[in-house]
Amino acid sequence: MSTSSNNMPTPALPSTFGVRIAGTGSCVPDRVLSNKDLEKMLDTSDEWIVQRTGIRERRICDPEKGESNRTLCVKALGRALEDAHMQASELDLIIIATCTGESTVPAVACRVAAELGAEGAAAFDLVAACSGFVFALNTAHALVRAGAFNTVGVVGCDQMSSILDYTDRSVCILFGDAAGAAVVRVTDDPAKGLITQCMHADGTGWPDLYLPRHAEQLIAAGASEDTPLGKLKMNGRAVYKFAVSRFSELIEETLQKANLTVEQIDHFVCHQSNARILESARERFGIPEEKMYVNIDHYGNSSAGSVPLCFDQLRQAGKITDGQLVMFLAFGAGLTWGSSLWRL
Ligand code: UT7
Repeated sequence: MSTSSNNMPTPALPSTFGVRIAGTGSCVPDRVLSNKDLEKMLDTSDEWIVQRTGIRERRICDPEKGESNRTLCVKALGRALEDAHMQASELDLIIIATCTGESTVPAVACRVAAELGAEGAAAFDLVAACSGFVFALNTAHALVRAGAFNTVGVVGCDQMSSILDYTDRSVCILFGDAAGAAVVRVTDDPAKGLITQCMHADGTGWPDLYLPRHAEQLIAAGASEDTPLGKLKMNGRAVYKFAVSRFSELIEETLQKANLTVEQIDHFVCHQSNARILESARERFGIPEEKMYVNIDHYGNSSAGSVPLCFDQLRQAGKITDGQLVMFLAFGAGLTWGSSLWRL
């Protein structure tokens, strides 16, 4: 075995250093699709949507204006860099959590890196649907702690409008488009960083929420063979049940691992799936309203975009301060669910 120093493993970050979220940014398209607009397209009503989901409107990209998943990512990460007072050239890795990238080859992250001028940065996409940003944040933290990278741009973005069948009222009313980003980097304050994380998947539940690409998938999922390919399919009731139970388990598991109580957490930044799902967890744990931000009324469920959009809006509103404890929580297709608990 060679003893050359080039082959030595990268030293892990010493415990005298921490990891901090140095900046955040987000981007939503200007175009608003309200429940009233959907009433004109579908057999639905504003009342039904508000009662069942809490959603009043959502934002969707206008492809004619050149808006896409990639343009949202570029703006969100650009704003996070500005917030962190950093140049793109200081990033040494970009991770984009998305399940609606305009291409899988190349990864969206590579083009975002090029457009921002993050020359030399590594870049890859990560697919974990609505849990994507939380999974990417945990991955970024682990890579920084392992000493592999100093500064990572983490983006969660989904252009759900590109995979929706706007004749299927049981699915399309829920989703919108958004991107949010965070710059994760080494700090000399050892108190800052991830305290604990949980990440899970149960692939047996895949037919409850999936994007069919082949007729074989429809057959395997027990769906009708004339179901359109390339459009999101969801068993709403099954996903609802999964989300309500996993969401509570996830909060309990994360608190237990960190040896903390609900009262000690300053903010629960949650995936915006359905206002009723959020409310059930809030009531169960006695979490005060001001600790669980909800913006689903204006943005719907933006999949991987929803957690970082909430986090950025909270930060920009001055509601999040240095040293606070923040629990990020998400769940979605896969089925997947995960959390990330930080001392900011
Ligand atoms: O990130 C995770 C992604 N997914 C989720 O979080 C989704 C979780 N699930 C849900 O949020 C809910 O299941 C939905 C909001 C999607 C649906 O609400 P629900 O209370 O579970 O409704 P349902 O599917 O049981 O349908 C009840 C009725 C049905 O009519 P009948 O059979 O009772 O006559 C549906 O056909 O509501 C009807 N319906 C609608 N009516 C008006 C379904 N969608 C609509 C609609 N407008 N958009």
